[in-house]
Amino acid sequence: MSTTQTPAGLTLPRRLRRLRRSDAMRAMVRETHLSPDSLMLPLFVCEGEGVRREVSSMPGVFNLSIDEAVKEAAAARADGIRSVLLFGLPDDKDDVGSSAYDPNAPVQSAVRALKREVPDVLIVTDVCLCEYTDHGHCGLIIDGEIANDPSVEQLVRAAVSHAAAGADIVAPSDMMDGRVAAIRRALDDRGHDQVAIMSYAAKYCSAFYGPFREAAGSAPKFGDRRSHQMDPANAHEALREVEQDIAEGADLVLVKPAVAYLDVIRRVKDAFGYPTAAYHVSGEYAMLKAAARNGWIDETRAMMETLIGIRRAGADIIITYYARDAARLLG
Ligand code: PBG
Repeated sequence: MSTTQTPAGLTLPRRLRRLRRSDAMRAMVRETHLSPDSLMLPLFVCEGEGVRREVSSMPGVFNLSIDEAVKEAAAARADGIRSVLLFGLPDDKDDVGSSAYDPNAPVQSAVRALKREVPDVLIVTDVCLCEYTDHGHCGLIIDGEIANDPSVEQLVRAAVSHAAAGADIVAPSDMMDGRVAAIRRALDDRGHDQVAIMSYAAKYCSAFYGPFREAAGSAPKFGDRRSHQMDPANAHEALREVEQDIAEGADLVLVKPAVAYLDVIRRVKDAFGYPTAAYHVSGEYAMLKAAARNGWIDETRAMMETLIGIRRAGADIIITYYARDAARLLG
């Protein structure tokens, strides 16, 4: 038994387990708390009506037509969830991603429907081109490269169309340089100065996005995303990315993925003190689901441990496909 010296000079055995003896004791000294207020649910909105198609690599996650997305958001609200993040799955794609700013595309239509039907749920929209380009890249391809500034122009159009539809927050996830400033300026010029920007500031080039690309039909047809998404080995660079996006006008910053980047979340929160989101991504969800389905882990406990770990690392907001399950448990 290790001992400790009291201020009065007594040598006493150190019994750290005293504070773990009962549920009430553990609750009283708990340092980190999860609340449904900080959980954001991603929704994949597709064309059609009455569509509710499960994503095979993400059990419990669906491609939803707008009517079904409204039902899902209302059910999530009943569970305690107060924000949703929308991704669009348009039927028509082209090489410049023009359906990203079509006012009648799934995301824009869903924003209007959700604002009408579940007005107290915050609507956040993903701003990227990869779901809208036929080649699946996040930007325009010119001379075999993803061209930064022309891509930013397209992203600005998408963000403005989401704001015009009524989005509360636009969330650029493309990792082009300068897009936060360009989006901020365009929103302000068009009277959307109250629409916030949550920038995917430190988004890593990750294998854990695999199932999402099935869900959103956004896998690149050739090449990869290493020319714009970050190298998993870098943390100082993440701080530069976050600093830059804050300087450009981001209201909230995001680190993605979450579990393999807990140190980055902590450093971003400590360095800037900004509202910080972490995205518990598709592959992280799929791993837990797969292990649970095999009977290898207790899914509920593993889910809550993962979410509390992300929160303990410093995330204020957690974007997770488990949002509804966790909110129900938190009751
Ligand atoms: C890009 C985008 C991606 C994700 C969110 N926004 C995919 C990518 O960069 O390839 C991944 C989310 C997840 O894996 O859950 N629009």
